[in-house]
Amino acid sequence: MSGKFKIRRMVEAARFPNVIEHTYFREINRPKGRWNEDFFKNSNSITLELGCGKGEYTLFMAGKNPDRNYIGVDIKGPRIWRGAKSALENDLGNVRFLRIFIDHLHDYFGKDEVDEIWITFPDPYLVKKSKWKKRLTSSKFLNIYRKLLKPGGIIHLKTDSVELYDFTLETIQKEGCSIVRKIDDLYSQAPDDKLLSVKTHYETIHLKDGKTIRYVAFRVG
Ligand SMILES: C[S@@+](CC[C@H](N)C(=O)[O-])C[C@H]1O[C@@H](n2cnc3c(N)ncnc32)[C@H](O)[C@@H]1O
Repeated sequence: MSGKFKIRRMVEAARFPNVIEHTYFREINRPKGRWNEDFFKNSNSITLELGCGKGEYTLFMAGKNPDRNYIGVDIKGPRIWRGAKSALENDLGNVRFLRIFIDHLHDYFGKDEVDEIWITFPDPYLVKKSKWKKRLTSSKFLNIYRKLLKPGGIIHLKTDSVELYDFTLETIQKEGCSIVRKIDDLYSQAPDDKLLSVKTHYETIHLKDGKTIRYVAFRVG
């Protein structure tokens, strides 16, 4: 994708009715605590997909569960474009995409506003230890998720990176979270699980490279 094409998609995505874009850190019009009231017009549960890219999980879950609401969150507009366009084409009224830095998630969701979080193939930041705090399962981020998740709300992680997986398991323990389900080799141990077998863009690439996919679900407590 050329730079010009990416910019065109980013601009187009920002105009889609199912995309909310907040990249200037202005405090006005943040939908904190009002997602159901302002956008979905119901009181259904809200699930987030963080670092959603093209939003494969958001789209799959929304199609299966019309009585729940789904929000894909990512900073990259051209990727959000794909998911938002598919949601519009498939008439998925229970889907929104939010273009922000996940670091600011607590400014966009109120206490107990979110039921569940999916983190799908987050960047593992392998090279420098100083970058580990950017990992979406670091203590910094778990403390952000704590502020908006309902008590008992579950966080799901799918990853191809053994380093990120082990780091997450250590963080889970350090932060006093509780593991709900843990699968060290997803396609050997749970090949028939329809939800866990949804393949994102990055997952498809990793599978072609012969990587093992890992999954853990936990409660922040
Ligand atoms: C490796 S890609 C995975 C995309 C998608 N989930 C998939 O599996 O195909 C990681 C995504 O996370 C997004 N991301 C990483 N850190 C982020 C942050 N702090 N705020 C918003 N998006 C972030 C990137 O823009 C990118 O789209």
